[in-house]
Amino acid sequence: MNKPVILTGLRANNQLHLGNYLGAIQPMVNLQSTHAGEYQLNMFIPDLHSFTTPIDHKQLYRQVIDSLKIFVAAGLDINNPDTFIYRQSYIPAHSELTWILDCFTYFGEASRMIEFKDKSTKAGSDTVSVGLFNYPVLMAADILLYDAKFVPVGEDQKQHLELVRNLATRFNSKFDKDIFTLPEPWDKQMEFSNRDSGLRIRSLRHPDSKMSKSVEDPAGTIMLNDDPELAAKKVMNAETDSIGSIHLDWEKQPGISNLLQILASLSSRKLTEVAAEWEGKSSYGELKKQVAEQVIHFLQNLQTKLSTINEGEIVKKLESDEVAMTKVANAKLLEAQKAVGLRE
Ligand code: TYM
Repeated sequence: MNKPVILTGLRANNQLHLGNYLGAIQPMVNLQSTHAGEYQLNMFIPDLHSFTTPIDHKQLYRQVIDSLKIFVAAGLDINNPDTFIYRQSYIPAHSELTWILDCFTYFGEASRMIEFKDKSTKAGSDTVSVGLFNYPVLMAADILLYDAKFVPVGEDQKQHLELVRNLATRFNSKFDKDIFTLPEPWDKQMEFSNRDSGLRIRSLRHPDSKMSKSVEDPAGTIMLNDDPELAAKKVMNAETDSIGSIHLDWEKQPGISNLLQILASLSSRKLTEVAAEWEGKSSYGELKKQVAEQVIHFLQNLQTKLSTINEGEIVKKLESDEVAMTKVANAKLLEAQKAVGLRE
């Protein structure tokens, strides 16, 4: 198990949406086939991250399994011997390393995390949990326990990834030992995933905000379990602008740019190429129609595959990978425990 590691996690606090698919699932599935045999691939569910904001706890266990089924339906080959799926809470080293890293994270730097600032502003300070504040440190443990070099994530996680690099650098230099492997910097991450820049799919109704599962925005969010026709209606009703001419311009035309981005990502083409095709055209309706058709096609395919997934096989693989990954995580935790003086 000495191959370089590609790792990502998707919370299961709700059903997954198109932003999750394009930001993290699709890149992992693509990397699995383009780099077959060269890398170890860890695709896990950070289930402890699920309730940093309030959720329906009765649904959580089921949603974890449903998310894993989506990965497989999206094309993740779990029979690949270099691929591992697991649940964070089944590997206690994640929580233990988090506490150690917490004590090397500055309050100021954690306070500067934009995701925390955004979510805590929305929730109001009385209901913001310490877990929400602390979640990037848990994410650091998720990554550092496995020496992950590449972490395919959407643009919203860029700052967290930078924090992970800072924490690893600080820890290694304090103890004068390369205990943690630094994940590659953002530009290298983009290059590796064959992207020009980080992906941020916006809400169809509020294109200044990202498409998100924690926002009450059903008309702006395409859920992966949406009825395809309903999803197409959401696209047709997408908020645009009154400029009347199509340009890729996130400042002045975020709604139009978002549609171009969705079209490009779903057809696995470069955004610049798709934008050039539509540049200066006036029919917003035509653009929406094409995006809607792509969305229908994508959801129909995904949902058809989903209905054939064997849940038993996933659970079997999950349980055996959790045993394997516990060993890896414990070995790294022990190195950190030794460094801080908890073990001899
Ligand atoms: P989460 O669960 O919020 O989102 C899962 C993945 O989906 C991406 N994403 C998006 N990408 C593009 N456009 C959007 N609108 C959009 N919304 C979400 C996210 O960037 C992410 O890649 N902290 C992480 C989960 C996590 C993790 C980790 C990720 C925990 N530990 C270790 C990588 C490595 C999160 O909250 O993602």
